[in-house]
Amino acid sequence: MHLSYCPSMSDSQPLLRTLAIETSCDETAVAVLDGDGRLEANELSSQIAAHAPYGGVVPELASREHLKALPVLVERARNAAMGDIGLVAVTNGPGLVGALLVGVRFAAAYAWARGLPLVAVDHLHGHLVSPFLDLEGGAARPMPDRTLALVASGGHSSWYLLADGEAHRLGRTRDDAAGESFDKVAQVLGLPYPGGPAVDRLARRGDASAVTLPRPRIEGAPADFSFSGLKSATVRFIRDNDLGGVGADDPPSVALDLLASFELAVVDQLLKPAPALVAEHRPRIIAASGGVAANTLLRSRMLALGEGLDLEVVLPPVALTTDNAAMIGRAGQLAHASGAVTDPRRLDARARRSWQPPGMRKLSAAEGVR
Ligand code: KG4
Ligand code: ZN
Repeated sequence: MHLSYCPSMSDSQPLLRTLAIETSCDETAVAVLDGDGRLEANELSSQIAAHAPYGGVVPELASREHLKALPVLVERARNAAMGDIGLVAVTNGPGLVGALLVGVRFAAAYAWARGLPLVAVDHLHGHLVSPFLDLEGGAARPMPDRTLALVASGGHSSWYLLADGEAHRLGRTRDDAAGESFDKVAQVLGLPYPGGPAVDRLARRGDASAVTLPRPRIEGAPADFSFSGLKSATVRFIRDNDLGGVGADDPPSVALDLLASFELAVVDQLLKPAPALVAEHRPRIIAASGGVAANTLLRSRMLALGEGLDLEVVLPPVALTTDNAAMIGRAGQLAHASGAVTDPRRLDARARRSWQPPGMRKLSAAEGVR
């Protein structure tokens, strides 16, 4: 993937104050960043409550909620901005096409009406720059060339080498994304949606060595991994032990042990390729991003990995691991500084056919949506 950023330029000169919009899935997010990538506004309206009764994201509902929330959040963010907006950045894919279109059309109209430049941002590019943002009022850190970056979210699980303005994918999941497997296991146990945070919380009370779960490797592709066998084995254990729907309030200790063992297996799968990738590609730092980078065990294992390899590890603040507009704004201003610009009259959403929002597979079998 071409990242269209120029590392040396982003190091030296301030960029344009940026209004950023992200509506790719179930969070409406708007941010304003100053030219140094300092957050002046970081607004988020979660749709979790709207989708929760259905156990997953309902695309039509997502679009409707974005339509309601977006003007309010933009107004709030503009009021918090410390100066004139010079650039508009918007996620144009991948994601739910209807949800993306709400943000894309809003951003295009906003930019066109004010004569502002517009940049379209790939959602993944946003996650990749998120570790370099600061939530405490500091400027964004320049992204060093040769960063080894893990993105683990509800839609992606891949390792990249960021070098010369390009993201070179080095390894990837062959089936489910890591976040998807957290969501599925949580759903079968009757934990609240999305599952990652609930599993994280409960796993802290379990024994991760209690249940043996598979950690398959892909023959001939040592940097790739798989979660579907692990997910199926975990679901089978839940059924065999009559743990379906136990819920988060008072789960038996065997459920806590299972969650701790499952979480450890996911983290092992994600991190296993790292030492060999470091040896081969000699990165300057290691970074992680995406919703799963909020996970307590993944964060501590990443830091330990860096210590063992004598490499700095950069993690986003937990609040910027899941979808947000600050990361889209930063990716947009870096792209714009290296010449990227989008015609507001031509910008369209770029859904990806293979992309499924978290929980969607279950929904296809669920009752209709009212
Ligand atoms: O990056 P994100 O907000 O959306 C996508 O781009 O997909 O990631 C959402 C995913 C969900 O699957 C959610 O369950 C997972 O991130 N997640 C976590 C944690 N917090 C969120 N997974 C494990 N541990 C967490 N603490
Ligand atoms: Zn995301």
